[in-house]
Amino acid sequence: MTRPAWAEVDLGAVRDNVRALIEVAAPAQLCAVVKADGYGHGAVEVARTAVAAGATWLAVALPDEGRALRDAGLDVPILLLSEPEPEAWDGVVADRLTPTVYSSKGIASLAVLADTEKPLGVHLKVDTGMHRVGVAPAEAVDRARQVVATGSLRLDAVWTHCPVADEPEHPFNQIQADRFDAVLTDLRAAGIDIPLVHAANSAATLAHPRLRHDLVRCGIAVYGLDPGPQLRGAADLRPALSLRARVSHVQHIAKGEAVSYGLRRPAPADTTVATVPVGYADGVARRLQEVGGQVLIGGRRCPLAGTVTMDQLIVDCGPGAEVAPGDEVVLIGRQGDQEVTAAEWADRLGTISYEIVCGIGPRVPRVYVGRPS
Ligand SMILES: Cc1ncc(COP(=O)(O)O)c(C=O)c1O
Repeated sequence: MTRPAWAEVDLGAVRDNVRALIEVAAPAQLCAVVKADGYGHGAVEVARTAVAAGATWLAVALPDEGRALRDAGLDVPILLLSEPEPEAWDGVVADRLTPTVYSSKGIASLAVLADTEKPLGVHLKVDTGMHRVGVAPAEAVDRARQVVATGSLRLDAVWTHCPVADEPEHPFNQIQADRFDAVLTDLRAAGIDIPLVHAANSAATLAHPRLRHDLVRCGIAVYGLDPGPQLRGAADLRPALSLRARVSHVQHIAKGEAVSYGLRRPAPADTTVATVPVGYADGVARRLQEVGGQVLIGGRRCPLAGTVTMDQLIVDCGPGAEVAPGDEVVLIGRQGDQEVTAAEWADRLGTISYEIVCGIGPRVPRVYVGRPS
């Protein structure tokens, strides 16, 4: 590794989080959601760890993400969370991925490619109110009948997705659960067999037992992050990722001098500033200084001293600070008894921790520790 900036991923934490979620969700099984390169943690390493810890399914957004898991030797069922474009169907069949379906056109074009001798399992997605993708509840029976009639597709599951499960008191959670139950009742009344039902993301798994059904699809909690502020501490989870770097340069600046583009914040007193070789091209928001962002050096919180630049940022270590090139900087994670979390960044930046970890760019090497033996 030549770059003195890296994301450390603790696979022991992933394993423990998976085990904790399996315990919460039981008897439902766990599907580990590893799309977007495992929320920035590395899909293959996380998937291997999750499966070894008991996850029976994996889920991704894109056929290419599924193929990368197959190429790495992962053999468990892999769910595609959206209906792929027709151009992708060949690969989906060849890679034995389990597609989500909902459009009549998609089902028809997939059915032509699949083999009646060896039907391809599909999961029917019902839109119970998020209005992103899925078949409308009123059309679910017809769409399920279409799947069954193909002969080359097998209806293995029916599922939905929850838009407000991270707000446990939101009334829509119950409305949605009722709508979904009504769809399941209609399907069964129409004689359609549904081997597997799933609805819960991490938040629903933790907060809404009624939505767990047979399988829960957990992403953020696998990585040890809370699905939202109202669910902080809802399960015994440990963040798997920390973002670290080494100080590249140290300077002493006089009172009134400013640093970085715009020279926006004149130092209130003589001080020591340290340059850290990580920037907004790596996922550290340019705005982080304006909203009070801090990093850890020598076990102390140090504020960003100026605008984050593309590849570097500058930290105010305080007057007389003992800091030297090569010292470790923790941007996200623990150092001594201090911790900066992805949730802290998210709160400052007005976003969610998902966006913080997914935003850590590919230039940042991932270093894996705690690999379960
Ligand atoms: C359809 C679907 N299911 C499950 C998940 C996992 O959600 P979470 O990371 O909140 O557990 C996602 C993530 O966005 C999703 O899109």
